[in-house]
Amino acid sequence: MEPDDKNKELVDKILEHKRRRGAVILAHNYQRSEVQDIGDFVGDSLELSREAAKTDARVIVFCGVHFMAETASILCPDKVVLLPDEGAGCPMADMITAKDLIEKKNGLPGVHVVCYVNSSAAVKAESEICCTSANAVEVVKSIGEGEILFVPDQYLGQYVATKVNRPLIVWQGYCPTHAKIQPEDILNQKEKYPGALVLVHPECRPDVIALADRVLSTGGMMKFARQTDAKVMIIATESGLLHRLGKENPGKTFVPVTRKALCPNMKRITLEKVLWSLEGMKYEIKVPEDIRVRAKLALDKMLAI
Ligand code: 13P
Ligand code: SF4
Repeated sequence: MEPDDKNKELVDKILEHKRRRGAVILAHNYQRSEVQDIGDFVGDSLELSREAAKTDARVIVFCGVHFMAETASILCPDKVVLLPDEGAGCPMADMITAKDLIEKKNGLPGVHVVCYVNSSAAVKAESEICCTSANAVEVVKSIGEGEILFVPDQYLGQYVATKVNRPLIVWQGYCPTHAKIQPEDILNQKEKYPGALVLVHPECRPDVIALADRVLSTGGMMKFARQTDAKVMIIATESGLLHRLGKENPGKTFVPVTRKALCPNMKRITLEKVLWSLEGMKYEIKVPEDIRVRAKLALDKMLAI
């Protein structure tokens, strides 16, 4: 899609600064449409961390939330990682601290800790292995005997437990955006679009997941939508994904499950802030080296799967 006149000037300036800085722009699937459109790469959290790990660019402008930029910085300590709005956080990631996790581990000697990437670097550093919503089932399957503590997303943890047929101890965190999606939202849309397939993100509540035809990460939804013969799909995740789904699949219809599913933190990144970020080289995200090295072990284990 061509940017409108209002955005064109901004986009031209961003491209000019990007070239001058030797930067790459990575954007999550939940970003505003116009921000996705200037991304050199748009994807889910797993795809973005893989992309960050392999880029040759000296500067990474991360259009996403804080833990994603932190992950890029952990994987690429020699690069400058910029988050255009330093207040773009993730409430779920804030539902556990490293101190909380250490206390919990002390009460569960020998427990394996699996940590969803939606967490701080300090929490990753206290974990055995990370996962994203795209690989959580494979990651948990890779773990040997013993108890598993899954942090911080209780709904993703509960979903994975049903897939691996193994009990997991789950932290009581959740994503406030996905928790807004109710079973009635799906049932209402199914009534309007009979025969539509229902794609649900595993951060949703179990009663919503129970109504899914497929449970997929945002990257998984993109792949499924491309490959399926289905023409109409109800999308139960943050509404930013609708932009890419529509853009890359002309001729197919994607119905947002509800307009309430909007992550205010993801939407904090605007074109103006991307430009200011490149102009002023801010806000640089860095992780203290002792934490970075331990967090990287947990991320590397995940990326090896
Ligand atoms: P994915 O992009 O991995 O599907 O994750 C969704 C999410 O909530 C990221 O914050
Ligand atoms: Fe965090 Fe949920 Fe927003 Fe993802 S959608 S960044 S999990 S609050």
